Amino acid sequence: MKFWQRGFLRPLKRRWFPLLLSLITLAFIAIPVALSQQPVTLRLLMTAPDVPPWRDNLVKAFNEQQNRIRLEVVEGPNSPNLIEDLYTTAFLLGNSPYDLVNMDVTWAAKFASAGWLQDLTDEFSEADLAPFSPQDIEGGKYNGRLYRIPVRSDAGVLYYRKDLIDKAGLQPPQSFPDIIKISKEVQQRGLARWGYLWQGKQYEGTTAMFVEVIRGFNGFWINPDTLEVGLDRPEVIQAVEFLRSTIAEGVSPPGVTTYVEEDTRRIFQAGDAVFLRSWPYVWPLANQPNSPINGKMGIMPMIGAANGSISGSCLGGWGLGVAKTSKHLKEALEAIRFITSEAAQKQFILDAGYVPSRRSLFTDPQVVAKYEHYPQLLQIVDRAVLRPPIAQYAQASDILQRYLSAAITNQMTPEAAMQQAAKETRLLLESARRDRQEKP
Ligand code: GLC
Repeated sequence: MKFWQRGFLRPLKRRWFPLLLSLITLAFIAIPVALSQQPVTLRLLMTAPDVPPWRDNLVKAFNEQQNRIRLEVVEGPNSPNLIEDLYTTAFLLGNSPYDLVNMDVTWAAKFASAGWLQDLTDEFSEADLAPFSPQDIEGGKYNGRLYRIPVRSDAGVLYYRKDLIDKAGLQPPQSFPDIIKISKEVQQRGLARWGYLWQGKQYEGTTAMFVEVIRGFNGFWINPDTLEVGLDRPEVIQAVEFLRSTIAEGVSPPGVTTYVEEDTRRIFQAGDAVFLRSWPYVWPLANQPNSPINGKMGIMPMIGAANGSISGSCLGGWGLGVAKTSKHLKEALEAIRFITSEAAQKQFILDAGYVPSRRSLFTDPQVVAKYEHYPQLLQIVDRAVLRPPIAQYAQASDILQRYLSAAITNQMTPEAAMQQAAKETRLLLESARRDRQEKP
C-alpha cells in the first residue's frame, strides 16, 4: 500500500468521512435551492426620457420591497415608433427578451391581434379596473379582451407664457387665430423670438398633435366604428393650412417640421417662445428652480378654430402588458399590480409630473398641492380624442405622418397631400372592412 493510502486516506476515512458526506449531501440540496431562488429578471423597453423617472421611482421601489423579481429597464430611442418597431422585431423573432411590454395607448390592438400578448382579462376583476379612467382601459382592449393595464394617462395641452402675454397687455388665446395674433404681437415687441411650437417631425408625435388640430376644425381622421376616412374633407385640409400658416407667418420656426417633443421643450424652456403644444410632463421640468421660465407658464386645454368651437386634446398614455412568450406570467402580474397600485402611482406622478390613470389621484390633496392644474387635467382627459383603436393603426398613422410631413414642408399642397393620404388609408382599411364583414 502506498504511503498516502496508509498515512492520509485512512485517518480521513475514519474521522472526516462522515463530515465530508454530510457536506456533499448539503451541497446537493443547497445548490438547486439557491439556484431556484435566483431572482427572475423582467425587462421592459421604453423611450429614453421615460427612463430616469421609471428607474428612480417605480423600478427602485419594486426591487427594494422584495428580492424574488428584478425589474430592469432597457433604454430605447426617443421615438414611440422606434420603440414599437423594436418590440415588433423581438416578437417576430419569436423569443422576446421583454417579459413586460410597455405600450403606448395605440398599440394594444395591433399587438393583441398579432397574438403577441397574454390575455389578462381573467386576471383583473371589474373592481380592480374601476378606479382607472375608462378610455385608458378601453385603449388596452382588443375584441373585448384586456391586454394592457394603464400605468399613466396623457393628454395634449397648450402651455403659454403668462408673463409675456401680460406684458403685451393681452389675454390667453381662445382659438387658433388668437395663437397667431398674440404670437405676432409678442414677437414684434421683441419679447420672444418665436410664437408657437409644435411637433412636426414625421413620427407618432406629429399624428397626436394633428388629431387635435383636426378636432379643432371639427373634422375627423378615421371613424373606428364605420372605418370611414375623413382626411380629404375641407376641415382636415384647413387644419393642414393652419399649421402651414404658423410657419409661413414666422410664428413657428421653420425647424418645427423636424421637431419632436424634447426639441420643442428645450426652446420653450430656454424662454424663446410664447406657446407650446405638448404633454403634461413638461410642467415639472420647465418649473425647475434653474429653469429660465420657472413660475412663468400657464397651462390650458387645447383650443379650436374659433372661439368656443369644439376642441380636444389627444389622449396619450402608456400601460403594461405581458409578452405571449414570457415564462414568468405570475411575476409579471405581480410587477404590474405593484406599478399600477395607488401608492406607487402617486409617488411616480408626484416625482415625474405625469398624468395619472387612477382617477382619485387627480384630486389627491398631495398631488394637487404640487400640481394645482390636475383637477382640470381630469376634465381634459375625459374629453380627449382617441386615435382610432384599430389593428391597422400603425400603418394608418404612418400614411398620415408621411403626407402631413409632405404638406408642411411644402412638397405637396394640403389638398393633394390629404387626398393621397385618404386614398391610401381607404385602401388599407378595405381589408379590415372585409375581415369584419366575414366575421359572423
Ligand atoms: C406621449 C403620449 C403617447 C404619444 C407620444 C407621441 O408619449 O403619451 O401616447 O403617442 O407622446 O410622441
